[in-house]
Amino acid sequence: MLTQTLSEKTQYYLQLEEDFGAHNYHPLPVVLEKGKGVFVWDVEGKKYYDFLSGYSAINQGHCHPRIVNALIEQSKKLTLTSRAFYNNLLGEYEKFVTEYFGYDKLLPTNTGVEAVETAIKLCRRWGYENKGIEDGEAKIIVCENNFHGRTSTVISFSTDPQSYSKFGPYMPGFIIIPYNDTNALQKALEDKNVAGFLVEPIQGEAGVCVPDEGYLSKAKQLCEAYNILFIGDEIQTGLGRTGKMLACDHENVRADILILGKALSGGTIPVSAVLADDKIMMNIKPGEHGSTYGGNPLACAVAIESLKVLKEESMTENAEAMGVLLRNELHKLNSPFISTIRGKGLLNAIVINHANKDAAWELCVELKENGLLAKPTHGDKIRFAPPLIITKAQITECVNIIADSLKCLE
Ligand SMILES: Cc1ncc(COP(=O)(O)O)c(C=O)c1O
Repeated sequence: MLTQTLSEKTQYYLQLEEDFGAHNYHPLPVVLEKGKGVFVWDVEGKKYYDFLSGYSAINQGHCHPRIVNALIEQSKKLTLTSRAFYNNLLGEYEKFVTEYFGYDKLLPTNTGVEAVETAIKLCRRWGYENKGIEDGEAKIIVCENNFHGRTSTVISFSTDPQSYSKFGPYMPGFIIIPYNDTNALQKALEDKNVAGFLVEPIQGEAGVCVPDEGYLSKAKQLCEAYNILFIGDEIQTGLGRTGKMLACDHENVRADILILGKALSGGTIPVSAVLADDKIMMNIKPGEHGSTYGGNPLACAVAIESLKVLKEESMTENAEAMGVLLRNELHKLNSPFISTIRGKGLLNAIVINHANKDAAWELCVELKENGLLAKPTHGDKIRFAPPLIITKAQITECVNIIADSLKCLE
């Protein structure tokens, strides 16, 4: 274990969380108090590159001035009406987003997992109303090593014991198949009670697992052939992160139900959404689904601005170019401690090759010391996902930091 000296101030904040917060996370020992663009600063004033971007919620960069301005201006006018009344922004927001992504309707939600839950309900309802599945019998196909959030329904189909163990009983109605395996999908689709296929176009939490080219388009074709809904969870992969507006765009796949979250608010407040066409969305009637904060005017103002800056500042194109540069520069390091470099756009991961099972964690601590924040996932993988506004010179500097830090594993 590396010996690190933490300042008294840092230790104070760590201790507060230790004493008064639930221990459901294991953060790196750094206490942040400011963010701007690709950078964050800790309570000592030390500056870091943010290579996690709030698990891809901060695609537009920390505290993007236009998004912050939208937040401030709207917060002075009206923040919440509930859906008991109309507000003057929800309709504008729904029109803007449905035109932006090309769907008939949007259902507004808050966190990512809430949108996933909504998509599951919508899909089942479609199965009963449109496909003629007997009530209570609908099934949804999901993939091994998925991550779709933390509610009890969603962990019911997780294959990660850390997510599901001792949280049962579990929700039935899910068929788990291997990821990146269209034969397994085809077999599962033969069950007449299947209503949908829920998939991450790239498995983010699993360690940025990129499926083979053609997987998504073949999966979509199969879904069409068997008349089931393709549900794209683009909460982490969407909004420019992988070098296209949506990761499904790499294969020209249009999800029947599209789930968005995270960067929909540029990292300011929880905003998520489910998009679908009328034949799916109109099966849900007044009173059958909702949420107090879903569609609140503050969220609408922030999300419109977050989507506008993404396009107007060409962040998707930058993600594509900077992603290629980052992976090329990492390959050039030729480090014996990196067994794999993978990703698309600015959603990337390295897999650490080292006898010490804590090596990825130790490397992240060293990266922190050297001014770059990243976090291991599933032991030996480290995600490299900076805000999409990162420049060429900054990528070069970051790769130098990574090269220097890797020396701690020698
Ligand atoms: C693909 C995917 N789906 C769903 C979620 C859950 O989102 P939230 O944490 O906002 O509930 C995440 C979060 O990392 C995710 O990556």
